[in-house]
Amino acid sequence: MIDDESRVLGGALSRDGVAAEVALAEVRRLRSGDRPTHGGRLFAYVYDPAVPGLDDLAAAAHRESAHVNGLDPTAFPSLLAMENALVGAAGRVLGGGPGTAAPDVVGSVTSGGTESLILAVKTARDAHPEITAPRIVVPSTAHAAFAKAAHYLRVALDVVPVPVTTLRPDPAAMAAAIRPETVLVACSAPSYAHGVVDPVAEIAAVAADAGVRCHVDACFGGWTLPYLRRLGEPVPAFDFAVPGVTSISVDLHKYAYAPKGVSVLLHRDAALRAPQYFAYADWPGYTMINPVIASTRSGGPIAAAYATLRHLGDAGYLRLATVTRDAVAGLADAVRAVDGLRLMAEPESTVVCFTATEGGPDLFVLVDELTARGWHTQPQLSYAGLPSSVHLTVTAAVAPRVAEFGPDLVEAVAAARAAGPVRLPAELAALVGALTPEALTPELVVGLAAGLGLGGQADGDGSGAGPLPERMALVNTLLDAAPPALRERLLVEFVGLLQRPTW
Ligand SMILES: Cc1ncc(COP(=O)(O)O)c(C=O)c1O
Repeated sequence: MIDDESRVLGGALSRDGVAAEVALAEVRRLRSGDRPTHGGRLFAYVYDPAVPGLDDLAAAAHRESAHVNGLDPTAFPSLLAMENALVGAAGRVLGGGPGTAAPDVVGSVTSGGTESLILAVKTARDAHPEITAPRIVVPSTAHAAFAKAAHYLRVALDVVPVPVTTLRPDPAAMAAAIRPETVLVACSAPSYAHGVVDPVAEIAAVAADAGVRCHVDACFGGWTLPYLRRLGEPVPAFDFAVPGVTSISVDLHKYAYAPKGVSVLLHRDAALRAPQYFAYADWPGYTMINPVIASTRSGGPIAAAYATLRHLGDAGYLRLATVTRDAVAGLADAVRAVDGLRLMAEPESTVVCFTATEGGPDLFVLVDELTARGWHTQPQLSYAGLPSSVHLTVTAAVAPRVAEFGPDLVEAVAAARAAGPVRLPAELAALVGALTPEALTPELVVGLAAGLGLGGQADGDGSGAGPLPERMALVNTLLDAAPPALRERLLVEFVGLLQRPTW
């Protein structure tokens, strides 16, 4: 018999619960250690339009629908209506709908870009049950979610390297990679890492010639490129106006500025979408019929996205795109003005990505110096002939901060030069040079993590070493020295060290 008094509780579960204000205060205290989601100083992970009142509107809409279940659209017609309205908006923004070259566009609301891409691959795969070993063709700059999709769905991934000079795939190389088993060709508008738009029209044409579907990953840029084009920027054709484009993904939780958990996957017509659905009636419960991966899903994110779009409207997005375009131009100018840095590509969307020139500062030290000055950028490791780089996702909230960035960048570069490049301790360098993923033992991982200052325990009051070192340059340098397969393995192990229950 279990004695209720002696039952051991832990983690978030207390014996009698705590007062509501205590629970909320705990959340707020934990949140205070996060990177700042507002204020225009975080250049990855969050998309902030800095529109007064928008957060409150989205939170109120989320609350209205948080307990609604998208499992069954007939039980909750409100969700079906909001999803259809979001798909209609996305379809319109991306060149589809009545009166266009793609009048029959249909789609679904998913939980994010990764889910949209997994479903695009699944749909293409399941359209060809006769192909027993299906493959997809992607440029090496395509988002990692395609690799995840291929892995989850047991589809082979044919990666086409991009020339370092253009950072975008050569359509002839994409064509050459298509095989009889290819079910999908993909490209980006734009790529996340460098923000460049692939030659979609040419790639869609070679896919169509081969009778293969073509997906445009516009998760990042699908909501900004059309507005940038209206502002006069030279945005190449990338949407349903392009013949041969069969599906497009666009994340509303990025540049539609909705809270997290909403992306849209569009197909040119319902027949192309059909294999996306999963239906199952062969059990005694309700017949399952899902367009997306999740079964039960909260209406909260969908309602929040709906309210966000309704409130901002077309004119609001055009204004936000104007502000963002100007911020991008200002940040790119700030980079150009610094000796030792160069842009990886001229900005064509809302990314500024730069690297160091010969004799320039150590980029990983620079990233730490920027962090110390309150600028949170994203380091990107060197890969296949591409140098390491620093990625800035620019949103409208950055605009008022641009003038402060330039002087801080100059200072941070000077500090990084003064500090000099990171030197891996000889034993770590030797280890990473000799290690293979298979040779990594738990003891080695613990030793490496300790050498890098990873995985320590914060004290109850938040003091103590904490799980991450204050400066990440050493960790990034070690990862940069490792080949991709070892990077993956090391990160799995390191993150595993962080993800431990609190008792
Ligand atoms: C081009 C592109 N595709 C897909 C994704 C994946 O989106 P999510 O993180 O919402 O799953 C991203 C995320 O940054 C992206 O930039």
